[in-house]
Formats: sequence, C-alpha cells, structure tokens
Amino acid sequence: MLTDSRTTTFDVTDQFPAGWREDIRAAAAKAEFRDFPRTPFLSREAADVTHVNRGRVHAIQVQQRLPWLYKLYRHRFLELASLAWGEPIEPALDDRYGIVLNVQRGNRMRFECHVDSNPVTGLLFFTDHPAGGGELVIARDPAAVGADEVERDCTLVAPRAGHLIFFDGKAYPHYARTLVAEDDLRIAAVMNFYTRSCPEESTRPVGLNQHLFGAS
Ligand SMILES: [Fe+2]
Repeated sequence: MLTDSRTTTFDVTDQFPAGWREDIRAAAAKAEFRDFPRTPFLSREAADVTHVNRGRVHAIQVQQRLPWLYKLYRHRFLELASLAWGEPIEPALDDRYGIVLNVQRGNRMRFECHVDSNPVTGLLFFTDHPAGGGELVIARDPAAVGADEVERDCTLVAPRAGHLIFFDGKAYPHYARTLVAEDDLRIAAVMNFYTRSCPEESTRPVGLNQHLFGAS
C-alpha cells in the first residue's frame, strides 16, 4: 500500500487470471467510442466544452465479458478500499454503474473533467504508456473548473498496468489526459464505492440515471 495526500495505491497484478491482457483488450475493442455530452451535475469542464470524445465499456458488458473483474470489484477490491479508507466500504448495488471500463484510443481522446457522485473511487489501470500521456490529473482545489485550472495545481497519477488507486473524486475534480502516441491504447476500470456516511441511495444526483440510461 502506497499513500500520498490524495491517493492510495495497491499493486493487484497477482489477483488477475492468466490471459487477463487478452481478456481486457477484447472487451475494450467492443467499447462504445463517440462524443459523449458533458455529464449533468458532475461535469467540471470549461463552459465552452459540450462533448468529450472517448470510449466506454458499459457495466453490464463488464459483468458479462469480464466476470473475474466484476468479482474482484465486489470482494477483494472492496477489502482494499476499506483498508485505504479506514472504514467499511460498500460496492454499488445498482449494476448499471458499479464498474465500467474507460478506453482512450489514439492521441485525441481524453476523459471528461468532472467530480464523482460517490465518496470513494477506485481506478484500476490495465495499460502502461512509455511514450507518455494518459495521466489521471486530480485537482488540489475542489473549486477548479476546466482542465486548465485543474492542471495548475494537481496530483498526477501515471497509469501502470496492475495499479489500483483509491481517491476522493467527489471532492476533487479530475480528468484523464490524452495519450502521446497515436497508436497507443489506454484502458482503465472505474469503480464506484460508498461509505455509511455517504451511501449510494442518498448521494447519486436525481436525474443522473435518466441522462445516462434513459431510466431512473
Ligand atoms: Fe471520476
């Protein structure tokens, strides 16, 4: 376990099954790549940004195609989250958003600058990027708006395959930088976790599910 003021990191490579790289790449190849509109309530993009181009493997597909990852989310990673936070942690009960994959292909995609609705976020990297880019950028200022402001005073996390980090994405705006190499691929699992003081049912904005899934 490695901690700094903003993140706690675990190397969980030994939890992965044989053939995990192929599994992850096959799932990522089926990601939905498109311009995603800014997320209501949670976006911290600058006012002129209406869409961000990126890829997403939805929660239901993660469950079906990567059952070992779904199981880790609900068991072993839960234990690590509790260790990192020093209190009991719960996974999402709603399987539409508990664990998803974010995918960036080439050097034009990035991930939206936003805050999370859940109090604890787990981010598990599946790729390395020797050419650079793809860093998770976490603002130190909770009021930062837009990637430029976040960059001004931030914690940087470079992706390392097998590294699982926990951080407070509810308080601190964050985004993922574009990759440098045009043939590079970044794959990361994003996991929602909850605490007793900030449980799932009370912290998720009303209307967010409607926006994302067309249903409450
Ligand atoms: Fe987030």
